Parts: sequence; structure tokens; C-alpha cells
Amino acid sequence: MRTRTLVKTAAAIATVGSLVWGAHAAIMLTHTVTGQPLDLSEAPEEGRDTEAVKTFLQTGVNIYVEDPICLPKAHELYLSMCSGCHGHYAEGKIGPGLNDSYWTYPKNETDQGLFETVFGGAQGQMGPMYGALNLNEMLLVMAWVRHLYKEDPKGAVWLTPEQRSTFRPFDENAKHIEPSEDLLPQCGGPAG
Ligand code: HEC
Repeated sequence: MRTRTLVKTAAAIATVGSLVWGAHAAIMLTHTVTGQPLDLSEAPEEGRDTEAVKTFLQTGVNIYVEDPICLPKAHELYLSMCSGCHGHYAEGKIGPGLNDSYWTYPKNETDQGLFETVFGGAQGQMGPMYGALNLNEMLLVMAWVRHLYKEDPKGAVWLTPEQRSTFRPFDENAKHIEPSEDLLPQCGGPAG
């Protein structure tokens, strides 16, 4: 009797847990190739509750884009997770270039579309990243991909109009933001 109650209680808690977590997402996230809904519960527990993740799941907007405080960490994550296939400056290698306005999957020009591709993967070697990056890290890495954009900011639909007016296309020969391993509190790191 007691065991049954315990099992039922555990099941109830699990349901509430996933409902609460699922309720975070006001946007509908789908796989880039199959169109199937993405299961965010596959993401690591860590990095789920940062301000950036909560904002993204409510609005589809990545607040790390062009955030100078978080770009050093974003750069570091890109170098360790993406540059091997997409190139040091996202110029393209095994995977396509990510630094211009041509996209195999046009939705990648939005934060939501880019997140869906990073989280769930696409075809071939572009595997899902939820095993390697947490949600907060995905948003950070996406911000560095955006920062590497080398074309006319008019095509950078992911920028706000204000950001677009000051955005300078990435120039690998100019001085640029160095990578850093530090995850600052403003970028989803531990507070204090
Ligand atoms: C093992 C190699 C590999 C790694 C690592 C990798 N990618 Fe990819 N990526 C690919 C390949 C190959 C494609 C082409 C897949 C396709 O067309 O469906 C691709 C496609 C993409 C696309 C779609 C581009 C378009 O034109 O629509 C995006 C966005 C992307 N990758 C981002 C990333 C990011 C961000 C990372 C790091 C977190 C990453 N990738 C890591 C190989 C990789």
C-alpha cells in the first residue's frame, strides 16, 4: 500500500516537473529537417534557468547577440564545438559557411531557427548539440556565429534595428574579441 502511494507520488512529481519545465516554452520549437517538435527535456539540467534561456523560450530572441560581456565566452564555445567543421571564422569547411546571408535552411536567419538547428541538428555530420552543450551555452555559441557575420548588416535580420545601425561586418584581420573560458554571472554563470 505504502509503496503504491510512493510510486504514485513520484509519478505525480515527475509529471508536475515536466509540465513546469514545458511551460517555460511559449514558442513551438521544431527540428530543422523533420519538422518534429523538439524535446527540450533532453537538454542538461544545468543552464536551463538563466535569464537568456527564459527570455528565449518566451520570445524566441537571443539576448546574447552583440552582448560584449558575453561574446568572449561565446567565442570560446564556438572554437571548441563548431570551428572544427565550420571553420575558424565560420567560413565553411566540412560544414557550410555560417558567416554570410546564404542559408541552406532559411530559418537559420532567425534566432529561433538557429537554435532549432543547433539543438536538434540537421543532416549528416550536423548532429544534435543537446548532449554537448546546455541551453545557455547554445545561446552563447549562436551569438558568436552572429558576430562572425561578414556581410552588409542590412541582411542581418537577427539584429535589432539599433544593433544593425552600429554592427560592423566581421573582419578577421582587424582586432577582435578574444576567447575566454570565464562564464560570467551576466552570461548565465554562477552569481557572485
Ligand atoms: C562534425 C561536424 C560539425 C560540427 C561539430 C558542427 N557542424 Fe554544423 N553542420 C555540419 C554539416 C555537415 C552541416 C550541413 C548539414 C545540412 O545541410 O543538413 C552543418 C550545418 C549547420 C547549420 C545549417 C547551415 C545553413 O546553411 O542552413 C548551422 C546553423 C550549423 N551547422 C551550426 C553549427 C554550430 C553553431 C555548431 C557548433 C555548436 C556546429 N554547427 C557544429 C557539420 C558540423
